[in-house]
Amino acid sequence: MSAENGGSIVSILTENRVFPPPPEFAAKSHVSSLEQYESLWNRAKDDPEGFWGEMAQTLQWSKPWEKVLDWNPPFAKWFVGGELNASVNCVDRHAAGPNKDKAAIIWEGEPGEKRVLTYQDLLVEVSRFANVLKGLGVVKGDVVAIYMPMIPELVIAVLACARIGAPHTVVFGGFSAEALAGRIQDCQAKVLVTADGGFRRGKVVPLKENADGAAAVCPSLKAVVVAKRTGHDIAMTAGRDHWWHDLAAKASSDCPAESLDSEHPLYILYTSGSTGKPKGILHTTGGYLLGAALTTKWVFDLKDDDVYFCTADIGWVTGHSYLVYGPLANGATSVMYEGAPNWPDEGRFWKIIQEYKVSILYTAPTAIRAFMKWGEQFPKSYDLSSLRLLGSVGEPINPEAWMWYHRVIGGERCPIVDTWWQTETGSIMIAPMPGATPTIPGSATRPLPGIVPEVVTRDGKPVGVNEGGFLVIKQPWPSMLRTLYGDDERYKSTYWSEVPGCYFTGDGARRDEHGNFWIMGRVDDVLNVAGHRLSTMEVESALVSHPKVAEAAVVGKPDELRGQAISAFVTLETGQEASEALRQELRAHVVKEIGALARPDDIRFTESLPKTRSGKIMRRLLRDVAAGRESSGDTSTLEDLSVLAKLKEEDEV
Ligand code: WTA
Repeated sequence: MSAENGGSIVSILTENRVFPPPPEFAAKSHVSSLEQYESLWNRAKDDPEGFWGEMAQTLQWSKPWEKVLDWNPPFAKWFVGGELNASVNCVDRHAAGPNKDKAAIIWEGEPGEKRVLTYQDLLVEVSRFANVLKGLGVVKGDVVAIYMPMIPELVIAVLACARIGAPHTVVFGGFSAEALAGRIQDCQAKVLVTADGGFRRGKVVPLKENADGAAAVCPSLKAVVVAKRTGHDIAMTAGRDHWWHDLAAKASSDCPAESLDSEHPLYILYTSGSTGKPKGILHTTGGYLLGAALTTKWVFDLKDDDVYFCTADIGWVTGHSYLVYGPLANGATSVMYEGAPNWPDEGRFWKIIQEYKVSILYTAPTAIRAFMKWGEQFPKSYDLSSLRLLGSVGEPINPEAWMWYHRVIGGERCPIVDTWWQTETGSIMIAPMPGATPTIPGSATRPLPGIVPEVVTRDGKPVGVNEGGFLVIKQPWPSMLRTLYGDDERYKSTYWSEVPGCYFTGDGARRDEHGNFWIMGRVDDVLNVAGHRLSTMEVESALVSHPKVAEAAVVGKPDELRGQAISAFVTLETGQEASEALRQELRAHVVKEIGALARPDDIRFTESLPKTRSGKIMRRLLRDVAAGRESSGDTSTLEDLSVLAKLKEEDEV
């Protein structure tokens, strides 16, 4: 088992600082003691259907369910027979109550513009855009692809899809035209919603150009809707492309929401697995919404007067669950920022927190490490006293970063919730309940009520205290993925066949004597680069699709800032010469195939790759070479030992 999290495991093993919930925080929180947490957890474990049935009463249903769970492993149906609508739960029910004039979204553009959408405003905009989609022929069940910058129209488009029962698939704006096309083709999206561009570090991200590149090879697309953001010149294809504002001006702002089956698909979100082809994670309406809503309330101890700031992009699952669905289902105020944390300078997030009096901040360890590197002077120049809770997500947080976050950002008063979960799990699985759970730097602590994880061996036997093993989940939970879009077999083999009878997370973990979980990183070929999931095979396929490349192997190497960096080993077709120019060409090729987030940090040219006798690339050895470590592992199955020695010599051309 490999654990690639930047070498923090050693320090994690010796970590013994414990931070109990501050008494004044605990006194006001939803779950305010360890005993209360434990009794909730035990109750949920012993009577999951009773527990989840009660929890689901917090959502607004248009038709009550008949049965809480229909479990036909590994296929689950939650709240069977029930009907609801996610946009009604996130918008209408707040717009109809005392919160109608409360800010739902406070948005800030990178250049500095501000926009506030109250729940009432959001209802108008969501309904109007739902009518726009209908006008373009979108009906319940049609997939809508969304490829947008972080602007309010993105939230509006997502909720408009939910309103009419059109599953959305949001593609992160950093993905290339090719990657966007692959996703649209896989789910046969009918409409693409995009923008003329977005701002990132003062530059325009050419979203429409990429969208055009994708649309050209996606015959399923009948229309492209373009929101105006940057105002620069773009090409519009007559008959296919429409400006958002033109269509919206003609659309009614009254759109009754569809009453949807609890299991109606809400969205598909593509994520990297251990093969080259991204997987379409399918989430459905009732269970997903319950998971997102409930965990937002529990883990962030959300109150009516909180101002909540999640820094994730909606292109990733964190943005789906904890910028859109979770906070809005709770009637919260969600702050949304378009651009880079260091634009125009490294104090941008702190300025936002000061200005809007943000009380809850949810960000990623890779960002925290960047803040540390930039220096304390930036956060110290702003008033961060409104903060009361801090969250972390995406990768294991190293104790040094945890302590810095605690001291410099949290002023030693804010509990930190280290939240472990995945695109597949839909919502947070292991995390402190901040009024109840003592926190420890580097540990995600305990499972939330209703979640039953365990650390096991490959054949499913529990390991001992503090022993490493595979992290699995033993009982179904409402926000679990239902399948991989269009591929039930891959769903079964990826998640339910590795360890008998359990959901296989792909992560390694250990559990300490107090019952705290310590996540040790992926055990498969999935990389975690700056909190973004990427598969080694995806990058390999991109490299091999270049005509000069014969073979490629990609591994992760520890990186202080981003957790992991991407290291590629490439063999060239006969007659091709290795050169710095070719290295640049290959880097650019990967960016074109996938996006800048997959750009290899280093590319080494080699005559051959180390393989076992059965032809499998020995990644473990390559990881050692990439990290500059002496190879410690057993090399007796290597087909050609000289290959390894050669790799080391050939370090750089
Ligand atoms: C990793 C992001 C340690 C883990 C929500 C998981 C974490 C993968 C944590 C999912 C954490 C996420 N501590 N590791 N708090 N949170 N991970 O699908 O390896 O983008 O399997 O979902 O990120 O990444 P994904």
